[in-house]
Amino acid sequence: MALRNIVMETDPLLRKTSRPVEEITPRIIKLLDDMAETMYYDNRGVGLAAPQVGVLRRVFVVDVGDDHGLLEFINPEIIETEGEQEYQEGCLSIPGKTAKVKRPAKIKVKAQDRNGEEFELEAEGLLAVCICHENDHLNGILFTDKAIDGKIYYAEQDEE
Ligand code: NI
Repeated sequence: MALRNIVMETDPLLRKTSRPVEEITPRIIKLLDDMAETMYYDNRGVGLAAPQVGVLRRVFVVDVGDDHGLLEFINPEIIETEGEQEYQEGCLSIPGKTAKVKRPAKIKVKAQDRNGEEFELEAEGLLAVCICHENDHLNGILFTDKAIDGKIYYAEQDEE
């Protein structure tokens, strides 16, 4: 495993649409391993999407510290949403900024795991927020685009 550099907010890569993974090659497995390591390295990370490490593939990892532990998503699709919630989000690519964003309260997501097996997962609360946030990255969307009333909060200096 290795740490990967995180692409920052102004990089045009973060605005691109990622391509589906057609075959789960050793490179994709390595990508997943490296992404988890990179996410955990910064202890504020609860999710990381492949474009954030410069790879335009539909892959993300999430760990919100609940019983699920580390979750890996390949070619994810949010297939159901219900209700609404607001959460103050941040992003490893946008250090020092947060914003309140409206997301579904509950979602159902379908994806493939690293063995190519398709799975479905129902999520609510922070896990739902995080999956929606990471899924947006695959479509070139950042949480700041969705800030309620366009309001961005700037964190303390030590965030960097
Ligand atoms: Ni993010």
